[in-house]
Amino acid sequence: MNLINDTNGVSRVEGVALSAIAERFGTPCYVYSRAALTAAYASYRSALAGHNARICYAVKANSNVAILNLFARLGAGFDIVSGGELARVIAAGGDPAKVVFSGVAKSRAEMQQALTAGIHCFNVESASELEQLNTVAGEMGKRAPVALRVNPNVDPKTHPYISTGLKTAKFGVAFDTARELYRGAQALPNLEIRGIACHIGSQLLDPQPAADAAGKVLELVDSLAAEGIALEHIDLGGGMGIRYRDEVVLPTADYLAPMLTRLAGRREMLYFEPGRSLVGNAGLLLTRVEVLKHGEEKNFAIVDAAMNDLARPALYDAWHEIVKVGAGGTAPAGTPRESGTAKTENARQSQYEIVGPICESGDFLGHDRNLALAEGDLLAILSAGAYGMAMSSNYNSRPRAAEVMVDGEQMHLIRRREEVAQLFALESVLP
Ligand code: LLP
Repeated sequence: MNLINDTNGVSRVEGVALSAIAERFGTPCYVYSRAALTAAYASYRSALAGHNARICYAVKANSNVAILNLFARLGAGFDIVSGGELARVIAAGGDPAKVVFSGVAKSRAEMQQALTAGIHCFNVESASELEQLNTVAGEMGKRAPVALRVNPNVDPKTHPYISTGLKTAKFGVAFDTARELYRGAQALPNLEIRGIACHIGSQLLDPQPAADAAGKVLELVDSLAAEGIALEHIDLGGGMGIRYRDEVVLPTADYLAPMLTRLAGRREMLYFEPGRSLVGNAGLLLTRVEVLKHGEEKNFAIVDAAMNDLARPALYDAWHEIVKVGAGGTAPAGTPRESGTAKTENARQSQYEIVGPICESGDFLGHDRNLALAEGDLLAILSAGAYGMAMSSNYNSRPRAAEVMVDGEQMHLIRRREEVAQLFALESVLP
């Protein structure tokens, strides 16, 4: 979680001052660390050492092509949920042969696109999808590689919106009917059965539910083998949680250990689909305090980032740590606020509601934060690398933020700030 290092009053990510990033690229701005992304990936690689395993980064967590390219260079495969994500993976230099395609429903066009690209596997979630895929593959003169995503009915003990492994969820095929569906799939001529998949939820802290789910999946794999349906791989999904506030988070190897114990000595290749745990703590959202409003009941720090930039607080009531960014030194007299210097001498310590400028009360980034703030100050919203930019929108016709990757002493712009004209470029008025 210590993405920022503070020395002599200057807050840096790796060797680059956050104030320098704000000055050069403006705010709001997402900032990522190449070293932190690489370290997170390395923690999976070393936890999986000795296992025949593939790490398929869940693109949905952060789909910037620079991030995809970095993971591709490190050898990762990818877990995608749309044709759009597949196009990004390919544009970023990812290998389609290492791609698994998840999601409760895929369109015909997406099936065609993925078959043409030659992905490793479709994770299929219903009997209808098996049939549709069989038809599309047949029309193309191909065989579609498939796994069934099974729902093990295990409680992952996480936020209900990101819990997927219970019977009541729309995800996967019911555990009890899976065997019959495999038999059905085997009878369809244009499908090739490759594996099995399971993903029970996200931001999981306790490793036990995932290990229990793996145990149930193994029972199924063995009973299928007894019928002559041999699987090549077992995909255990993603879900490992990260520290946002004070959660107790196990190191990657310890989180995976109970699962790997059960999987020891298996001949099937293991697949994992981590998203959040690879990128979440490797990114932050840099924002500037526009206005301070001290009221009778509440004090507000209105910043230039909003719920359209980071939806998690508004959507899940998620807590992200917010820290003041040290810029070091004081600005020469007469320096305009826009150049990145706050009137720090006027800083006022208070409990602040950190909110955006959007016209609704749900537009908050943090409640009750005790900070000494002045207008013009820079703030960093931490643990924003996952499901931050990826879930951003243009609500209130706000251009999406810029994205910057820090690499040692270098800062690289990996996504330009959107321009307002782009926001309505696809629209047209009536004749
Ligand atoms: N595989 C599948 C099939 C998934 O549905 C997901 C996430 C992942 C892998 C990656 O899970 P992770 O390792 O990131 O936990 N927007 C929410 C999270 C939604 C997760 C959706 N599925 C949030 O901001 O918390």
